Amino acid sequence: MGRTPETLLSVVGARPNFMKLAPVARAAARRPGLRHVIVHTGQHYDAGMSDAFFAELGIPRPDHNLEVGSGSHAAQTALIMQRFEPVVIAERPAATLVYGDVNSTVAAALVAAKLGFKVAHVEAGLRSRDWTMPEEINRVVTDRLSDWLLAPSRDAVENLRAEGVSADRVHLVGNVMIDTLVASLPRARENGAAKRIGVDGRRFAFVTLHRPNNVDAPATLREILDTLGELASRLPVVFPVHPRTRARIAEMGWTAPAGAALKLLDPIPYLDTLGLEDQAALVITDSGGLQEETTYLGVPCLTVRPSTERPITVTEGTNRLVKAERGAILAAAAAALEAKRGAARPIERWDGHTADRILEVLLGEASYRVS
Ligand code: UD1
Repeated sequence: MGRTPETLLSVVGARPNFMKLAPVARAAARRPGLRHVIVHTGQHYDAGMSDAFFAELGIPRPDHNLEVGSGSHAAQTALIMQRFEPVVIAERPAATLVYGDVNSTVAAALVAAKLGFKVAHVEAGLRSRDWTMPEEINRVVTDRLSDWLLAPSRDAVENLRAEGVSADRVHLVGNVMIDTLVASLPRARENGAAKRIGVDGRRFAFVTLHRPNNVDAPATLREILDTLGELASRLPVVFPVHPRTRARIAEMGWTAPAGAALKLLDPIPYLDTLGLEDQAALVITDSGGLQEETTYLGVPCLTVRPSTERPITVTEGTNRLVKAERGAILAAAAAALEAKRGAARPIERWDGHTADRILEVLLGEASYRVS
């Protein structure tokens, strides 16, 4: 049994981190005597990309905001490192929790590890094996630096084993983002997003796209957008647009075809997103989180990418990979819309209790090692 840490410190920075932090913050608040310090790096800073999530998910105000903002990978990572260093030295946490695969994750892990503070990686072991994705580099480096590797699924455990990570450090805790989904679904269903957007009671597609591989190359982005325009002649397409994607669309001067039921929205809050995902006939995305949420909900999902670090959503869930090409997307969409929908298959430890397992591991109360 390890000693009880007096301070746990969580570092978050980008939108998908916030849904993973929320249940950990709630579980920590239920434990008297445990101090949970929250550091927001400021990687995402627009109200709609950050504050909205803290408010909706009841996450306490961050104790520290590093306010790094946007920049190249090197500039952003370096600034997070510089500004996080005095914070971690002052707080002296027993564990620094880092989440997912964004620049804030790897930057904080590097700083803590080099100062001799222990690092816990929430969502360890995922691998796309696609080195053109900055997230893949962030994942591999973060795992290498971590003392606790908190894996969401058995394939992640296998990846770590194959890389020679000691089994002692690896715990199959489940998917912490599903904790947030489970806790939020009733509110999301009451929230009425589909009604507000005008698609209530209709079959519609829900779309998100923000990966550099899809949106930074104008020819690829144009082909995807034109395809969505075409799909919108068949059913309404609801597409909240990430700021990166919004900027690229503006640079290209692309506009939706007249009369197409393609609704380009500003980024929307978590409950609206979850409510729309839940009611959609089809989701088209390149997000990691949506691949997992649709699998949990049993909603067909097309992931516009050549690979996924979340293969369990394909082998056991409703996710299909599709090329960023008109013919491929339209054929896969037609097949998904025509297929009979079965009940969602539960995935091991995607059950709403992952945050409790994470704290049990970090506090030395339980182990979820896989032999
Ligand atoms: C980041 C993560 C990605 C994650 C995504 C979720 C990295 C390497 N990438 O990508 O893994 O899936 O967040 O959203 O960490 N911007 C704003 N307002 C904001 C934030 C960003 O306008 O609040 C714009 C800026 O022009 C910025 C661009 O979006 O340059 C990209 O932001 P950045 O955080 O670098 O990467 P994301 O594409 O958001």
